[in-house]
Order: sequence, then structure tokens, then C-alpha cells
Amino acid sequence: MFAARQAFGAVQRRAFSATARDASKVAVLGAGGGIGQPLSLLLKLNPRVTELALYDIKGAPGVAADVSHVNTKSVVKGYEQADVASCLKGAEIVLIPAGVPRKPGMTRDDLFNTNASIVRDLAKAAAENCPNANILIIANPVNSTVPITAEVFKSKGVYDPKRLFGVTTLDIVRASRFISQLKGTDPANENITVIGGHSGATIVPLLSQAGYNLEGEERDAYIKRVQFGGDEVVQAKGGAGSATLSMAMAGARFAESLLKAAQGEKGVVECTFVDSPLFKDQGIDFFSSQVELGPNGVEKIHPVGKVTEYEQKLLDACLKDLKGNITKGVKFVQENP
Ligand code: NAD
Ligand code: LMR
Repeated sequence: MFAARQAFGAVQRRAFSATARDASKVAVLGAGGGIGQPLSLLLKLNPRVTELALYDIKGAPGVAADVSHVNTKSVVKGYEQADVASCLKGAEIVLIPAGVPRKPGMTRDDLFNTNASIVRDLAKAAAENCPNANILIIANPVNSTVPITAEVFKSKGVYDPKRLFGVTTLDIVRASRFISQLKGTDPANENITVIGGHSGATIVPLLSQAGYNLEGEERDAYIKRVQFGGDEVVQAKGGAGSATLSMAMAGARFAESLLKAAQGEKGVVECTFVDSPLFKDQGIDFFSSQVELGPNGVEKIHPVGKVTEYEQKLLDACLKDLKGNITKGVKFVQENP
């Protein structure tokens, strides 16, 4: 509870110390859900957001009415099912947490059959109504839903690889929090690089780049906790869903970073799953590494950098899984346009 309050406080402090200069419409698709509601609240607290457009197949007008009473300047509107086009028109950022969450015993890939078509259809709406927006994919399996979105944008002739992001920020948040618990440091000062993708073995924390060197069982337990942190929450919620509050905080952090970069701040870097040159020679078109953000979205994709032998083994396992996840998403859109 204290950690959650601290994280929420940090988002609030950052938000209130920022200056809103430009008009920035931010849309949330899936705003009525477990992530969508707290994410909408955190975005309402961000003065860089001037208009908040909330869409869901159920409940968005209610969430919008509720959030709109928060005493910050932004205008909030809720949109119902027939209204996705109005929600998206003029959006600079579109966050997509729409889709079903896991239950105990499921992998993220088990969500593919339901979420692939949800994301495909929302991507079509975004490609038609706000082709230049930054699209932030939260719905799982991220390793496949990001390629799905890319294929949809390509099919409409509006794909800009610099504007599509798989949100993996929660992995960085977890990696940073968990190392702070082991080392007794302030989590606010930790920002562990996590590369690869967003599921199990594709999540590769690079502790060595933060100057940490865990050994043996402690190292294995740490890596496992970061790679399977999502399962920890799914188990604890006992069938009532997966991470929502920490994800909302992570999504709000990533949106804030994009807005800062769009409004001219330099050196804004986040790990995110993007169309990346790093492993294209191995047939892997999307990869998460440190990405510098700018007014046009992706400004610069940083290389993986120096890794230990152990981290290299994790990376090799990651690449193997990632390739299949990406191909599955691409194939889905080709077969189900
Ligand atoms: P939830 O079931 O609480 O909410 C999902 C919302 O999406 C619901 O309100 C539902 O009505 C809405 N929805 C469904 N189909 C829709 C459509 N076609 N258009 C608009 N809205 C639609 O689920 P949640 O806990 O909010 O999780 C949402 C997704 O986010 C899941 O797929 C989950 O696995 C994923 N997730 C990702 C991360 C990450 O790190 N990227 C973290 C946590 C959860
Ligand atoms: C997470 O990492 O918490 C999310 O991807 C949700 C999940 O299914 O674990």
C-alpha cells in the first residue's frame, strides 16, 4: 500500500510540476476496465493532457463523468460503442488496454484468440481516424498485438514505425522495485533496463548495466520474479484478473514520457517494444530496448549494449520465443484481415 502511494505520489508530483504548453488529446480504448479506469484518473492528473477521450464497449461515459469531476483543467469525454471515430479524431496518443486479462494457469499467449481481433479492430479504427497518433499497446499478448497493429496500419498505407509502441514499462517498474527490495535502495532511484518482449522468457532484465551483480539462487530468483511478476499478481487475484493498478501507473508514466518528448524535452528514454533494427537479421522485427523519444515518436533506438554471459543466455532464449510470437501476430492479420 505504501509503495503504491509512493508511486502514485511520484506520478502526481511529476504531473503537477510539469507545464502544459500544447493541446494534447489522449484517448484510452478500454477505459472502463481494470487498467482503463485508474489509467484515466492518472491521465486526468497530468496537466500535459488537455483532452481525455475515454472509449469502451461498456461503461466509458460513467468513467468519464466520474473522472471529469477531478479539479484539473483537461476536458474529459466518454464515448460509447458506435462512437470510436469521434473518440480517436485529433488524438495525439492512443492507449489500448482493451482486451481480456489472464486467469490463473493461463499464459499471455492464451489470450491471443480473444484479444487479437479486439486489437485488430481498434487498430483499424485508429488507422482510419488518427493515422499520425502514437499508438501504445497494452493489451496482451504484447509480443503479438504490436505486430498485429503494425500489419493493420500497413494494410491501410499509414504505418509509421516510429509511432507504434508496445508498453513494457511495467517490467522496468518491477525490475526496479524488486532490486530495491534486495539492496535496500530507494526504488525511485532505480531504472533497470529490461529488453526483449513482454512475456516470461522474453523479458530480459540487464542488472549488470545498473552495476549490480547478483549470484546463484538470489540471481535466479530475482530474474524469475521479474519474468513472472505478472503471474504473481494473477495468482494473488485468484481469477479476478491481472495487474491493473501498477499497469495504470506504468502506462501513465510512458504516456507522460511521450508527451514530454513531444513538447521538446530532450533525452527522454524508455524501454519499449518497437519496430527495431537490432535483430531484423534474425527475422525479429520488433524488440524492446532503450528508446529515446522525440516529437516524432521514436527518435533513436539504443543497442543492447554490454551484457554478461548469463544475460546473453537469457537473450538467446528470448529471441527464440519472440520470433514465434511476432510471426503469429503477422500471420493472424494476413489470414484475418
Ligand atoms: P479488464 O477486463 O478489466 O478491462 C478490459 C476492458 O476492455 C473492459 O472494460 C472491456 O469492456 C474492454 N473491451 C473489450 N473489448 C473491447 C473493444 N472491442 N473495444 C473497447 N473496449 C473493449 O482487463 P484489464 O485488467 O484492464 O486488462 C486489459 C488488458 O491489458 C489485458 O489483455 C491484459 O492482459 C493486459 N495487460 C497488459 C499489461 C502490460 O504490461 N502490457 C499489464 C497488465 C495487463
Ligand atoms: C503483467 O505483466 O502483469 C501483464 O502482462 C498481465 C499478465 O497477464 O501478467
